[in-house]
Amino acid sequence: MAIRDVLRMGDARLLQRAEPVSDFGSDALQLLLQDMRDTMRAQNGVGLAAPQIGVPLRVVIFGVDKNERYPDAEVVPQTVLINPVLTPLSDEMEEGWEGCLSVPGMRGLVPRHTKLRYQGRDEHGALIDRSVSGFHARVVQHECDHLDGILYPMRIRDMRDFGFSDVLFPGQNLVDD
Ligand code: NI
Repeated sequence: MAIRDVLRMGDARLLQRAEPVSDFGSDALQLLLQDMRDTMRAQNGVGLAAPQIGVPLRVVIFGVDKNERYPDAEVVPQTVLINPVLTPLSDEMEEGWEGCLSVPGMRGLVPRHTKLRYQGRDEHGALIDRSVSGFHARVVQHECDHLDGILYPMRIRDMRDFGFSDVLFPGQNLVDD
């Protein structure tokens, strides 16, 4: 078990395009995933991308169990997604509040596609192909953006909708994700 440091906005490694994984059987991949799970759990995150711990590979993990921090949020299955391909299923966009472990203490209102299909591989190389909507779709878009060097503040349309979590949402005790 290893909880890794999460890189914070300003670190150039968060702005790089990550490389595809080619070897699904490697010990290195399994160790990376274990570290990502440990780190996400330690930070109470909803998702984590490998570049956030300084590993420039196209690997994300995400998942939301029933959680009092997001009382209105749907449950998202715990997922390992490697070499993802995202395809929006409609032009419809929706704004929603996001946070990020790499942008601690902040929240921003971010437009995302409401419906999308995502394809990729799991940790064993098996195909994943899901069509999702709402919060699940938002989480996937946020995490996969990290693989292209995009942090959510870059997608905020109106910077007045960006601020400190405890100021925007007093009393809610939001942690970073
Ligand atoms: Ni993030």
